[in-house]
Amino acid sequence: MMMPEWWNEAVIYHIYPRSFQDSNRDGIGDLNGITSRLGYLQWLGIDAVWISPVYPSPMADFGYDVTDHCDIDPMFGSLEDMDHLLEEAHKRRIKVILDFVPNHTSNRHPWFLESRSGRKNPKRDWYYWKDPGPDGGPPNNWLSRFDGNSAWAWDENTGQYYLHTFLEEQPDLNWRNPEVREAMLNVLRFWFDRGVDGFRVDVSYRVMKDPDFRDNPQNPNWTPGMDPSFRVIEKHTKNTPDIHRFNRWIRQTADEYDNRVLIGEMNLSIEELSKHYGTATQPEFHLPFNFRLIFSEWDAANVKNLVDQFEEHVPNHGWPNWVLSNHDQPRFATRAGAGQARNGHLFLLTARGTPTIYYGDELGMESVEIPHNRVRDPWELLSPGLGLGRDPVRTPMQWSRKPNAGFSDPDVTPWLPLEKEYEKRNTEILKKDSSSILRFIKRVIEIRRRSDALTHGGCSTHEAPDGVLLYTREHKPSGERVMACINITGEKKNVPLKGLVDEVSELTLLLSTEMDDPAAVDTEREILVLRANEGILLTF
Ligand code: NOJ
Repeated sequence: MMMPEWWNEAVIYHIYPRSFQDSNRDGIGDLNGITSRLGYLQWLGIDAVWISPVYPSPMADFGYDVTDHCDIDPMFGSLEDMDHLLEEAHKRRIKVILDFVPNHTSNRHPWFLESRSGRKNPKRDWYYWKDPGPDGGPPNNWLSRFDGNSAWAWDENTGQYYLHTFLEEQPDLNWRNPEVREAMLNVLRFWFDRGVDGFRVDVSYRVMKDPDFRDNPQNPNWTPGMDPSFRVIEKHTKNTPDIHRFNRWIRQTADEYDNRVLIGEMNLSIEELSKHYGTATQPEFHLPFNFRLIFSEWDAANVKNLVDQFEEHVPNHGWPNWVLSNHDQPRFATRAGAGQARNGHLFLLTARGTPTIYYGDELGMESVEIPHNRVRDPWELLSPGLGLGRDPVRTPMQWSRKPNAGFSDPDVTPWLPLEKEYEKRNTEILKKDSSSILRFIKRVIEIRRRSDALTHGGCSTHEAPDGVLLYTREHKPSGERVMACINITGEKKNVPLKGLVDEVSELTLLLSTEMDDPAAVDTEREILVLRANEGILLTF
């Protein structure tokens, strides 16, 4: 690898801005709220924040339906508030990554209003407009992700269909049109000029559709009760062969500036996502998001396999990354079980690659059951009861035991209900408790920051008893070596060390998920002794 860049070593923290801190008593988080909490992020040891969209939006998809890419929605504040946030974050050496939404705009974006105003409008081709198919219906069988109905909406006025991969309110932009490219790449420049350090690129792998608009193949494995949009296999709507053109357009734009990072959102296998690093001479994403921990079992054999796959497929100029939770999927503590929340973060922060922590996961927050009358997410409203709704993972951050957990003033109703546990599970209480998950995560970040092996050393996995994940990190120039041993079961485990280390007595415990000082190393029997659900970190 070349000289490490800041994003190779950074711990990224993902903020869902509606839910982090409300500073103006409307029950919705905002930019000044985030700025007021930078001290907490600095205390935790965070190097960069990624903030989900804060641009003007009718909020049909809570900000992923943008009407102006170069401004801030008044709900979140103003451009001045963003400048202030950038300044304050940078003072604390925290980088700021924004969300870039290239695949679609809001249907109320001035570009779309023009585009739909008439077939001859100069912006007509900025979106995908098509005549009906041979049967008079939609032009092909592409489906909307949010309800599994056609991805084509009929426009009575001009007698054509337009494409929307997500909501009808989110028409897809046509990036094959050079004017669209120019306008959207200028959006990146606008924010880079203001000092933004990078972008997480929303559904980047969907931007280039099949130029011939061929039907997607039917999915023979689909059964009722599954996500309705999975009725077809998305061969022609995502990860199409020329997606790399899009990747390179945005990378070249980012490369006009120093030290900026591009993170692509894609739900792909490690082998497939690794192609989105591009080549050494034509690089693409710095970090194609790796969602495998989100979409597969938290199970020792599986995680070992994922690490091995990454080591096999990441190109020399590339750099791995790991994510446990995000604003679209159930929280890690709910998926893996509360007993595994610390282990998940031990792995996230000691595996080779850049980690992204989802706000609140550091408290062990769980997905929250949302009463019917409080559901806000369009996905749940359009496909009810299938477990696709995302409100449960977007509930307010828990800062204290005060009513509304310090997220909003006590007399305000937050936009989503709070987790019931907030009186016990909040930053104020967990900060004071030296054995809490929050203090544990802070400690791992501290150890990581001081360790060459953990920040940029190599990684090897090792055979271990069933249910135990064992890997070592090594920084050859300094000779520093770290071993992580993680028990992903509810039973005690003995882990043989023969052949793994020269002298078992040289193993020194750095920390345990239990935040105590266990007799984990049995020198006589040459084994590690792990308690149920325990993970440990050692140096040797
Ligand atoms: C992926 C985002 O993460 C999700 O929240 C959003 O609804 C869709 N893209 C559409 O922009």
